[in-house]
Amino acid sequence: MKRLDLLNYIGGEWTGKDLEKIEVTNPATGEIVGSVPKAGEQEVKRTVEAAHRAFAEWSKKTAAERAQVLRNYYQLIMDNRDELAEIMTRENGKPLRESRGEVEYAASFIEWYAEEGKRVYGRTVPGKSENHRIHVIKQPVGVVAAITPWNFPAAMITRKLGPALAAGCTFIVKPPEQTPLTALKLAELAEQAGVPKGVLNVVCTDPETFTNVVLNDARVRKLTFTGSTEVGRLLMKKASENIVKISLELGGHAPVIVCDDADLEQAVKMTVASKFRNSGQTCICANRVYVQSSIYDAFVEKFVDEVKTLKVGNGIEEGVDIGPLIDEQGYEKVERQVKDALEKGAKCLIGGKGRADRERGTFFYEPTVLIDMKENMEMMRVETFGPVAPVQKFETDEEAVRLANDSPYGLAAYVFTQNVSRGIKIAEGLEYGIVGWNDGLPSTVQAPFGGMKQSGLGREGGSEGIEEYLEVKYLSINL
Ligand code: SIN
Repeated sequence: MKRLDLLNYIGGEWTGKDLEKIEVTNPATGEIVGSVPKAGEQEVKRTVEAAHRAFAEWSKKTAAERAQVLRNYYQLIMDNRDELAEIMTRENGKPLRESRGEVEYAASFIEWYAEEGKRVYGRTVPGKSENHRIHVIKQPVGVVAAITPWNFPAAMITRKLGPALAAGCTFIVKPPEQTPLTALKLAELAEQAGVPKGVLNVVCTDPETFTNVVLNDARVRKLTFTGSTEVGRLLMKKASENIVKISLELGGHAPVIVCDDADLEQAVKMTVASKFRNSGQTCICANRVYVQSSIYDAFVEKFVDEVKTLKVGNGIEEGVDIGPLIDEQGYEKVERQVKDALEKGAKCLIGGKGRADRERGTFFYEPTVLIDMKENMEMMRVETFGPVAPVQKFETDEEAVRLANDSPYGLAAYVFTQNVSRGIKIAEGLEYGIVGWNDGLPSTVQAPFGGMKQSGLGREGGSEGIEEYLEVKYLSINL
């Protein structure tokens, strides 16, 4: 694939040829794979203007008309799945197989919300007197600004875009500097699908420039963000100026509880799938594995055998399971956490080292299993975002739930047990927005993805996901 030098997509125009460029690097090779313009305040203001102008017409279309456009869009994404996947692997590093899976996952949000938009129902409520009627209606919030992360360059856009457009909102997205090419390719396909000018806008810039404009412009009514808790906190403060509606999908620190009656084979496979997806760089990755003491040794042995099969390398090559980490900062965090654990008494059974080429800017870390973990180790408290699985013993269910909940985060948790009442009790006791019960891959379009505590606000996916883009209004009618 040749180098991609793309432009911003603002108000239906491809712009920014003369602007400073942001270069996009392949984290597996260090090679520059493309570039995008770096928009300044003026361009971001123009984007808000365009989205605001487009809102008038798009919001008035019927749900069925919007659905038709979204369905065309879904089909085009699917038809271009291989190209999108290759772009994604080249800018993000994830294995091609995972990129293909992500394109399908991304497309599913467009298809599903095309239909869900037709089911935005209001209510009729008994009035306060015989002459009063109350009609509750739902309307699109208006212009939506989205800030999306590099770990899912397509799906974290469409999980916001699908419901926003289906609800009748217009949309501005600032993709991350590491993976803007996938976002701009998605915009190209939206244009081909007949998404009207200004309804979807992609503007590449730095986060400060973007938020300074969108959160100071009262025409922007909604901010949606996926990223770190640290940044989410800052955005929440900034959004308070105009009391902008806000959804935040923030950091996680997922516990996995493996009970003594679990199907061991399944628990091992699913924990590996959860932990090592995207090289451990997902917000819902298993971050701490708690195993009941009577099956601890058996679990660890099988787990290490499974981890041994994972192949590290350039994600564009067939058969690779673990791609590079996104950058040096991410790599150093993993190194630091492993060192801290080993110094405090953990044992490394496999992996435990990386391969950093600082000159080229490539950072790989071997899939790693650490045992004899303790609560005072950084890895057991702070999100790792790398391919390292720390394992700790527990005795009772109460202890497992206490350990699992001892975190400021509350995004995803996992439990493995064959016992239904035990599973329900543990799942209900977990302070997490998502619980995978015998399931290491719980993400799906139909379900309301999101976190409790410092993992965020709001939900994406499912029927809850479209509510984030709707205002509720009631009409009190005096007959
Ligand atoms: C995330 O890491 O933020 C999203 C993961 C998912 O959708 O499965």
